[in-house]
Amino acid sequence: MIRKYTYGTPFNTEAVVTDIPSEHGAPAYGTVSARQGFSFTYVMEKDDIVYGLGEANRGINKRGWCYISDCTDDPNHTEDKRSLYGAHNFIVISGNETFGLFFDYPAKITFDIGYTRMDTLTVSCEDSDLDLYVIDGDSPYDIVKQFRCMTGRSYVPPKFAFGFGQSRWGYKTKEDFEKVAQGYRENHIPLDMIYMDIDYMDAYKDFTLNRDFDDFPAFVQEMKDQGIRLIPIIDAGVKIEDGYDVYEEGVKNRYFCQREDGSDFVAAVWPGDTHFPDVQNPEARKWFGDKYRFLTDQGIEGFWNDMNEPAIFYSKEGLEEAKEMAEKFARTGTSNWDGSEKGSDETEDIGVWQLGDKLGSLANSPEDYQRFYHNVNGEMIRHDKVHNLYGFNMTRAAGEAFERIDPDRRFLMFSRSSYVGMHRYGGIWMGDNRSWWQHLLLSLKMLPSLNMCGFLYIGADLGGFGSDTTRDLLLRFLALGVFTPLMRNHSALGTREQECYQFEDIEDFRHVIGVRYRLLPYLYSEYMKAALSGGLYFRPLAFDYPEDPMAKRIEDQLMLGGEIMIAPVYEQNAKGRYVYLPEEMKFIKFMPDGTISEEILGKGIHYVEIALNEVPLFIRAGKCIPVADPAECVDKIDMGTIRMLGYEGAEYLLYDDDGVHKDYNLDRNCRVLQY
Ligand code: NOJ
Repeated sequence: MIRKYTYGTPFNTEAVVTDIPSEHGAPAYGTVSARQGFSFTYVMEKDDIVYGLGEANRGINKRGWCYISDCTDDPNHTEDKRSLYGAHNFIVISGNETFGLFFDYPAKITFDIGYTRMDTLTVSCEDSDLDLYVIDGDSPYDIVKQFRCMTGRSYVPPKFAFGFGQSRWGYKTKEDFEKVAQGYRENHIPLDMIYMDIDYMDAYKDFTLNRDFDDFPAFVQEMKDQGIRLIPIIDAGVKIEDGYDVYEEGVKNRYFCQREDGSDFVAAVWPGDTHFPDVQNPEARKWFGDKYRFLTDQGIEGFWNDMNEPAIFYSKEGLEEAKEMAEKFARTGTSNWDGSEKGSDETEDIGVWQLGDKLGSLANSPEDYQRFYHNVNGEMIRHDKVHNLYGFNMTRAAGEAFERIDPDRRFLMFSRSSYVGMHRYGGIWMGDNRSWWQHLLLSLKMLPSLNMCGFLYIGADLGGFGSDTTRDLLLRFLALGVFTPLMRNHSALGTREQECYQFEDIEDFRHVIGVRYRLLPYLYSEYMKAALSGGLYFRPLAFDYPEDPMAKRIEDQLMLGGEIMIAPVYEQNAKGRYVYLPEEMKFIKFMPDGTISEEILGKGIHYVEIALNEVPLFIRAGKCIPVADPAECVDKIDMGTIRMLGYEGAEYLLYDDDGVHKDYNLDRNCRVLQY
């Protein structure tokens, strides 16, 4: 049962696809104040668990921290951070009272979940213009399913996108890409995609190619002949440059975000000065989306959308203010840290820290987000009022264009920034993590939370994006990545090269990634079932074992699909880990020699040995899963070699389709496999 409460005049975010009339009166849970700004307060019981929030810091249980939905390009995901790249304002409170809440509000909104007071949940935002959805259900999972139904079917990528992809910021020339393809193919490490980061473009201009790619369609084909798809990045900012068609068309048609005075807003990003396409404006969105044709016409079948919070290095205005401050600082000569000791007769002196702060806060500053506007059906809306929708609408631009380009075909699409609703158009990656062990665990915790908010095609930069990785971290990251729909190794410019063939004993990488391909029939089948039924691919243990008090505490194991549980190793030098089994399960290990070890373990806590080159999983009692022979790309997986693993006598319902077209149908495309 979903009830909607409308406060003020909310902006239509288009997150919700079903028509739900607004109720009068107060929600059944908590108290609402909508007089000065908006706040919702609920006093939690000691053992209540709070699920949700999608891409957010900390645990599966979100209690004990303050989170702010305010899409932010911050590459340092330390534990104290409150905002990441997405805004997924859906939570489920699970306890004596169990209910879901969706705050459909496109600007900054704060979720204080037991931070100010350990027992109090407060959700607050500046304007009291929003829709609050209160969802009642039989269980947290039931509530999630209702929410998913209300927000529309999750995006379905082509099947090749379930293969493994290699990426790195810095690949620039054909030769760079050929080297990667060769490194994988010669070493027989499976690979389906190589990602093209910003350097494939001419001067970082969207929808251009650098001089090296003279016959791009031939190059795309050359890669496809090896079973590899090239997946280019598209950035939000369009370079300001005379003669560049995207820029000139955008200016002419007033398709860029504008300042209050009607001039096009200028933000510096990778190409230098840029304008932002006004993807909130339906006409501009269509125009920008159609630009993807430049690459689809040349054989490209997938993209990743980046810098779409939108990230701003600095604005002209911000830079001007900083310059003035620096000049004032130079004049006053105050080296005092906060300017409190007067060094001249100027009334307000600038301290060295203040100057440092100003320079340090030039990027992604809240002031800049107030300097430009969106044209929404003739009404000018200040960006900060709808800030969290930019990534959604940039990705929607592409998604809607793909429908026009080839309505029967699936395209790969995932984005960095997102809002609920974007899950209908693409997946996300979790942004710029670091080569830290703690980020391996953090990414695991985000998986079920993101699924709850509709995002199914998800994954982290395996190996870590920033900082230097290590061989063991990459292997452990991959052993988790085997299970994430988006499985991509990506790293930052200037960090240690982390393609799998850069390390010793390459056969370990061949094996671990090979397990992904062996499991792909199962993983794809479970993804499709989750997407088509509005279910969860990843779930916290408590969703499946609601009566088990121990299951509620588990933060480092996940249920995946209907049959398995995963429990990756996430600590350096660990030879295994403790695992909690809420029921008897079969402990499976894919061994480096190609064999599969199986051991039945009873309900309870066990220590299981897991070497660096082994991939573990647990099959639930009485269940089985299909396993194929290893293959080097998705197209080569032989469905004829499938054998069953798990409990003899069990049945598995396998979903399969051609992976290219949109003939999704649970009834037609499912068949029963028997063990
Ligand atoms: C930021 C993205 O998060 C990262 O993945 C990418 O490599 C850089 N931008 C450069 O494009």
